[in-house]
Amino acid sequence: MKALAVVPGTTELKIVERTEPQIAAPDEVKVKMLRVGICGTDREEAAGGRSKAPEGQDELVIGHEMFGQVVAVGEAVTRVKVGDYAVFTVRRGCGKCTACLINRSDMCRTGEFSERGIWGLDGYQTEFAVDKEQYITRVPAELESIGILTEPLAVAEKAISEAMLIQSARLPDAAATPDWLFGKRCLVAGLGPIGLLASVILALHGAVIYGMDVVDENTIRPQWFKTIGGQYIDGRTVTADKVDDTIGEMDLIFEATGVAALEFNLLDALAYNGVYVLTGIPGGDRPIQIDGADLIRQLVLKNQVLVGSVNDAQGHFQMAVDDLGRAQLRWGDLLQKLITQRHPMTDFENALTHHDADEIKVVIEWGQSA
Ligand code: BGC
Repeated sequence: MKALAVVPGTTELKIVERTEPQIAAPDEVKVKMLRVGICGTDREEAAGGRSKAPEGQDELVIGHEMFGQVVAVGEAVTRVKVGDYAVFTVRRGCGKCTACLINRSDMCRTGEFSERGIWGLDGYQTEFAVDKEQYITRVPAELESIGILTEPLAVAEKAISEAMLIQSARLPDAAATPDWLFGKRCLVAGLGPIGLLASVILALHGAVIYGMDVVDENTIRPQWFKTIGGQYIDGRTVTADKVDDTIGEMDLIFEATGVAALEFNLLDALAYNGVYVLTGIPGGDRPIQIDGADLIRQLVLKNQVLVGSVNDAQGHFQMAVDDLGRAQLRWGDLLQKLITQRHPMTDFENALTHHDADEIKVVIEWGQSA
């Protein structure tokens, strides 16, 4: 079968041949790939950045945002059946720490995990994948057109649920409200796919959502954000340190820009007892200057929490699928509009290296539903 691979550390991208995987254990599931999304991580890998080939191989098959259809199941599998749409998670555990042993490798303590399509394990930009049932989540047929958004949405689900768990555990008034996020002022920084999907979750919880980016308000991403009830802040006019003075303080800030200087400056907008969730992974090693004393003073004097979040567990994938269903009920086919570019597999070069101004989520099409 065909697969799309990089030679880690280089910009060499190519189609390679791989043996089609088969079910080899009773708890395995074989999925035919329908489409695979592309995100900043894939682009970084294609540009020679962070990625690792499997042991003994020079190439890594990339792709971690998959959506496919089950074509075979081992005899012990109960969660999916042949014909179901489904998605696999990304990370595989170290096999040593408690988190990994209970299928929470997103919280691995040793750092010896692997990630399909990113770190040490071949990914999903290919025709078929086989993996264990514990890593799969079924996607109902009604969500076929947006199921490809499950993985990036699950990244945001984990980050937001971490923030809510922390707030519910420590705030004296949290126990009195069924949903801590309801009516809370939330700022999403960076309206790329992760930021927009985080906004969907926050809006479904009834939060008041603000979104910051540095593009004209009449362009596709701010416009999409406004259709789910968000208020757009143009970061070129309202700088990070002026958000609190002009728009007001925020109970939660969801950071998805990966721009380190902005990540620190935005802390200024966080309210008393606020929580700041970081999901953007800054590239490069450009040093930045921050006023450390001021930062620590603010965190302490305002009881604030700064939390980083990466990856996601199967439970977060289930939350994502459930929220895709809720979003579809609430906004109809609006989420489909997040998928702005579809490339055939042969057009991988363009899909990975070309950036359009009107682009949100780019996907590579691998197959047709049965
Ligand atoms: C993926 C995560 C992964 C992270 C770090 C992200 O793009 O969605 O699953 O853990 O990159 O490699």
